[in-house]
Amino acid sequence: MTLSRYLVALGYGTRKEAERIVRQRRVTTFAGAVLRDTDAYVHADVRVDGTPLDAPPGSVILLHKPVGYVCSLNDRPPMMYELLPASYPKRTAVMASIGRLDADTSGLLLITDDGPLNHLLASPKSHVPKHYAMTLAEPLRGDEADLLASGTLLLKGETTPLLPALFTATGERSAEVTISEGRYHQVRRMMAAIGNHVHALQRVAIGPLALANLAVGTWRLLDAGEIHTLRTAALECKALAKAKASRE
Ligand code: URA
Repeated sequence: MTLSRYLVALGYGTRKEAERIVRQRRVTTFAGAVLRDTDAYVHADVRVDGTPLDAPPGSVILLHKPVGYVCSLNDRPPMMYELLPASYPKRTAVMASIGRLDADTSGLLLITDDGPLNHLLASPKSHVPKHYAMTLAEPLRGDEADLLASGTLLLKGETTPLLPALFTATGERSAEVTISEGRYHQVRRMMAAIGNHVHALQRVAIGPLALANLAVGTWRLLDAGEIHTLRTAALECKALAKAKASRE
C-alpha cells in the first residue's frame, strides 16, 4: 500500500490530510529520515511526529473493559472506543468488538478489524469457551453446578436449552463459570434461571487467552503467536462441535 493510502487506512485523516502530514515533514523513518513520497510503498518502520504508526490492519486488541462502557454504537455512551487511540474509529476498516460485554460487565474484550477472525470467534457455531468470575446476591446452595451442567436449563423466554456450562463455587457468594455460547446477557440470565442474581461479572478468559493482570481500562495488542493460538483454538472448538452435532 502507498504511504498516503496507508495513513488514511489507519485513521490519520482523509487523503488530503495524509498528504499534508507528509508535506509538513512529520512522517519519518525510525532513524529520522523524512519520507516525502506519498506514492511510495510503505514499509515497517514509519513514524508520525516521531511516534510509531498505529497497529497495522489485521491487529487484535485485548481491552480490559471497565464497568459502564458499551460495545455497540446503538447503546448509550461512553463507548469502548474512548479507551483506544482517537484515530481508531477513523480507520477505514472498522475496529469492532468480537462479541459484546454488557455495560455492567467488565473484563476481557477483543477488538479487531479482521472480519473473518471476528466471525470465527463470535459465530454461535464456534463454541469457543468464555470464562467468567462473578459475585452473587444470594449464598450458593450447592446444586448450581449440576443444574448448569445438565444441558436442560431454559432461559426465560427461550425454548432451546442451554448447552452444559462448567460452574465452580469460589466462595459463599462467588463463583466462576465457563460457557461455550454467547446468548444475550447469558451469565446473568443463567443465574436468574436458577434463583440467584449476579452482582458483579467479569470475563477473565476467552479460549486460551486470559485477562491476567492487565489494568482496568487499559489495552494491549496481541502478538502474532497469540492470534495464531486463538484462531487455532477457535477452529478446533468449531470442528469438535460439528463432529458432536453429527453424532447426535
Ligand atoms: N453474560 C452476561 O450476562 N453479560 C455479559 O456481558 C456476558 C455474558
